[in-house]
Amino acid sequence: MPILKATPENIKKAAEIIRAGGIVAFPTETVYGLGANAFNGLAVKKIFKAKGRPGDNPLIVHIADKRDVALVAKLGSLSSRLRRIQDDLIRKFWPGPLTLVLSKNKNIPSVVSAGLETVAVRMPSNKIARALIRAAGVPIAAPSANKSGRPSPTDAAHVTHDFGKNMLILDGGKTKIGLESTVVDCTIFPPVILRRGGVTLEELRRVVKNTSTFDEQRVVRAKSPGMKYRHYAPRAPLVIVSGTGAKLVRAVRDALKTSRAKRIGILATNEHVPLYMRLGDPRTITLSVGSRKNLAACARRLFATLRQFDTLNVDLIIAESFPERGIGAAIMDRLCRAAETL
Ligand code: TXA
Ligand code: MG
Repeated sequence: MPILKATPENIKKAAEIIRAGGIVAFPTETVYGLGANAFNGLAVKKIFKAKGRPGDNPLIVHIADKRDVALVAKLGSLSSRLRRIQDDLIRKFWPGPLTLVLSKNKNIPSVVSAGLETVAVRMPSNKIARALIRAAGVPIAAPSANKSGRPSPTDAAHVTHDFGKNMLILDGGKTKIGLESTVVDCTIFPPVILRRGGVTLEELRRVVKNTSTFDEQRVVRAKSPGMKYRHYAPRAPLVIVSGTGAKLVRAVRDALKTSRAKRIGILATNEHVPLYMRLGDPRTITLSVGSRKNLAACARRLFATLRQFDTLNVDLIIAESFPERGIGAAIMDRLCRAAETL
């Protein structure tokens, strides 16, 4: 099935496919998801198969209304302190790009949670996503709608590129945030960020002051199984260079000098593009993700730019680094994992 504009009629059609145990791709405010009925283990297995996703990497369950969290998570098992934290996070950040890891309720088959006792839950703010969940009448389990290991899709064409035209894709245009949701484990105190994303550490700490990150608590790294695989990867190897201004340009020049690549992509920001032009290396193709003054805009364009380098057939990507504050931390997380060679 082709890409369909997300009209009420097509949303209904997609919901019917979900109810019948099929899978469809749909937009969220972060990235496009590949969804199935979260209560139907056989349907969810189709997602793993289509993506080539390892069975030990659990999925996020999407709901349309706050109260539906009780359909997928076991709330009574939380201590009152954790219960309060969970309520605060939901009140402040839902609907939106925050995923909470909670105790799993038995309605959710173990294939969704990859055998874990927990389930990741999120209420997207994208209206198409919520209309689809409501029309389906069930929570929707959905990873990002890319083949495993590839950059997440931020428009419908990216999804077709990875999966062909055999799947219904609801087209909601370009996604607003462009990076995935932040995943926070709420089953332990203090809550831990398992994956950086659309809600920043600074924003979380304003609500739950001692929120920690997995860097601070390395032991929990294994808790989010998705963290151990190579991710977000363009075809070409990617290296990250640090610094700004003259120092950055020097680092890029050094990287160019030592590389034998024939076509080299530079993942740049507006401020530095003229400096790369001045280097005058004929092997380079420079693409800017935006201005360093607007990191949210850079985040929005990051994955699309990585995919663009694929179509340009570069054999090396040199990427600028970003400041590790606000959404910049999530940009750096994705770049670092795209650079891993695992
Ligand atoms: O923005 C998003 O979160 C997008 C849209 C479609 O909602 N979804 C997404 O899903 O990025 P996915 O499958 O690409 O990433 C889900 C992440 C993985 O790192 C996975 O390991 C983690 O969430 N996760 C899922 N369930 C978990 C659980 N029970 N405990 C710990 N981590 C979990
Ligand atoms: Mg993903």
